[in-house]
Amino acid sequence: MRLLPPLHLHLPAHGRGRGLAPALRQLLRQPPGSWDLPELPAIGGPLLAAGAVATSQRRCAALVGAERCWFGVNGASGLLQAALLALAPPRSRVLLPRNLHRSLLHACVLGQLEPLLFDLPFDTATGLWLPPSPDHLAAVIAAARAAGPLAAVALVSPSYQGLAADLPALAQVVHGAGLPLLVDGAHGRGAGIAAGVDLEVLSLQKSAGGLAQSAALLAQGPRIDPAAIERALLWLSTSSPSGLLLASCEAAIEELAGGGGQRRRTQAQAVAARLRQRCSASGLPLVQTHDPLRLVLHTAALGINGLEADDWLLQRDVIAELPEPATLTFCLGQRPPLGVSWRLPQVLRQLRRALGGPPLAPQEPPPLPLVAALAMPIAMAWRATSQPLALTQAAGAIAAEPLCPYPPGIPLLVPGERIDAARAAWLQRQSTLWPGQIADTVRVVAAQEPTGR
Ligand SMILES: Cc1ncc(COP(=O)(O)O)c(C=O)c1O
Repeated sequence: MRLLPPLHLHLPAHGRGRGLAPALRQLLRQPPGSWDLPELPAIGGPLLAAGAVATSQRRCAALVGAERCWFGVNGASGLLQAALLALAPPRSRVLLPRNLHRSLLHACVLGQLEPLLFDLPFDTATGLWLPPSPDHLAAVIAAARAAGPLAAVALVSPSYQGLAADLPALAQVVHGAGLPLLVDGAHGRGAGIAAGVDLEVLSLQKSAGGLAQSAALLAQGPRIDPAAIERALLWLSTSSPSGLLLASCEAAIEELAGGGGQRRRTQAQAVAARLRQRCSASGLPLVQTHDPLRLVLHTAALGINGLEADDWLLQRDVIAELPEPATLTFCLGQRPPLGVSWRLPQVLRQLRRALGGPPLAPQEPPPLPLVAALAMPIAMAWRATSQPLALTQAAGAIAAEPLCPYPPGIPLLVPGERIDAARAAWLQRQSTLWPGQIADTVRVVAAQEPTGR
């Protein structure tokens, strides 16, 4: 007999409707389907200059302090692709962080861009990438520039777990180098625009009260050409954007930036603070991050792999968001579930009793150069004739597909990268830490394919 409802601590952040933005909740009370409207003249769409959507995009831009805002109905993924295509012409080189979401790689394939992947500081206790310091980013740009010009730089902030970068200082470094900065703020609330970045993408289901797939692209400043953005959006967008999702974009941004939303967020943060306090009182190790509504349990300190902890909790109706080898991230959402502040510490204490042991060994940073260029263009490698190869024999081969545990959707290996012996050995060890997520084989470009650029 089930006595308590499952604890939903995953995305979307509206928590199965409880934290939906109020205007959206109201819309969904209308007769089913009545809101599913086409681009009627009075409504318009994200790329039309007139109509309710255009007016709403202008109002939302002003609310978050941007010059322009475009709503997206294909998630942050679709808008990240459009943003990168707008910044970088075919064959140009773009500087992307190792903790990039895979959608930026997809943009490189579609736009024939050359990704240069830059290494980030890595925390061996938690296995998490850390945001770069301004000096680190300056060194990356200098190293990449030494081999040719760049078109743009991208960063992720905050991370999935809620680690935020010093965006004002990083924007200064990138702008000082004469380059535009795109921030993947999928998990954030618009701090990039406030920090002066050129483009920022928000996923409005991740830290606001929107439905899945609703997202926003924010732009400002002289380095951005709105016409180039609209062209790229046109290439990638449906010609029938969902009226419901567009309304979700509007409602989520209005809530995110408005007084009512702030009040509800303060209430959610009070629950989160109580939960943290109870976890700490129970000696449960938490990772410090900048997002009060993401709780990151440091499972490695308890002697437990985060994926193993996730399996155990799922069997007890506790549904977390992001299991990784040394951590497990819970999304508390816009309106945390009732009782979470006592239920979660209780079940986490049971987890520790059931699976806990001595702390796990430190996580091993990937053996990566500061800046890596691909051995074969990504668009060619990903389409090449390929064959499976055991990781034990992969040294020297070129990857034909990404190795990408999901979530978080961060590739450990990118198509076109040459796998050296140290990387092959590291990937073998990773495959044991991500059971079921990384196979012990990798698809590599077949031997007869040309490997030139
Ligand atoms: C850092 C980051 N960027 C972008 C995305 C894609 O967002 P969406 O699911 O809205 O397409 C994700 C999804 O998990 C993400 O973690």
